[in-house]
Amino acid sequence: MYSQALDQRDVQRADSQREAGESPDRLARFQARVEAEEKIEPNDWMPEAYRRTLVRQISQHAHSEIVGMGPEGNWITRAPSLRRKAALLAKVQDECGHGVYLYAAAETLGVSREELVDQLLTGRAKYSSIFNYPTLSWADIGAIGWLVDGAAIMNQIPLCRCSYGPYARAMIRVCKEESFHQRQGYEIMVTLCRGTAAQRAMAQDALDRWWWPVLMMFGPPDAESQHSDQSMRWKIKRFTNDGLRQKFVDATVPQARYLGLAIPDPDLRFDEAAGHWLTGPIDWAEFRRVLAGGGVCNRQRLEARRRAQQDGAWVRDAARAYAAKHAAPAREAA
Ligand SMILES: [Fe+2]
Ligand SMILES: [Fe+2]
Repeated sequence: MYSQALDQRDVQRADSQREAGESPDRLARFQARVEAEEKIEPNDWMPEAYRRTLVRQISQHAHSEIVGMGPEGNWITRAPSLRRKAALLAKVQDECGHGVYLYAAAETLGVSREELVDQLLTGRAKYSSIFNYPTLSWADIGAIGWLVDGAAIMNQIPLCRCSYGPYARAMIRVCKEESFHQRQGYEIMVTLCRGTAAQRAMAQDALDRWWWPVLMMFGPPDAESQHSDQSMRWKIKRFTNDGLRQKFVDATVPQARYLGLAIPDPDLRFDEAAGHWLTGPIDWAEFRRVLAGGGVCNRQRLEARRRAQQDGAWVRDAARAYAAKHAAPAREAA
């Protein structure tokens, strides 16, 4: 999740010098380790394309966690009770922690956090399209927890078994926290749906606006997702985009029914033979437009990150000065 736009052109253009050491024998030994379900660790040999795929995916995931704090942070001061405020604060703080673990996991692949943040701020790196939609009402906070975090769990549980050790281990803790996020969101929805007519209408409106963008979170359809085969062979990915999307729809439709809400899809139907809920067509033109920067909040989200980077400059300077001050006596003693 959160790495839906994985653009692997760089992978195909992989650094030829590094690839020079990639003999068929070495590649075969690497693939055998992956197939034996051994974890690949930072100091192990790995093909350059594998390393780049992971840097791209993990950093995109990290950026999404950090940018994703924006839409929900927007409601912390307006949460309807102290209990809701405390839960939302904790959730937004968790998302920050997820970003930090993931940047650290990406750094084990030989790229610096500064470089990754720079890629985000200059628009060279992507983050999940979902965070370019606005949070217009309190029910959106319920819908995000229920649907966005729900979709994240669906995608991230298989990542706990990803072949790259640091990523897989980071995902174990992340998934535990995501399940709290999903439940707090669903509980908000339950409360609203048991409330007044106006509260139920607010919940329905949130579902109407978030449903289709959430389905897009799983990335383009398998038929268009030409690179997912390689990620599957490397056991970075365990399920295809469409497979995960179907799992999510099958899990979520009964939850919406329990809430008494209508999924905004006139074509939605249960296929008895297949045992699956089938949705109508997804508007992939919207997905591409939002990813390309044309969503309602793309500019606002990036501006917020750039401002945070500027406002935090003094903290980084102070930390560097403190580290230098303490490194000098240690050098002298040595
Ligand atoms: Fe998260
Ligand atoms: Fe979350």
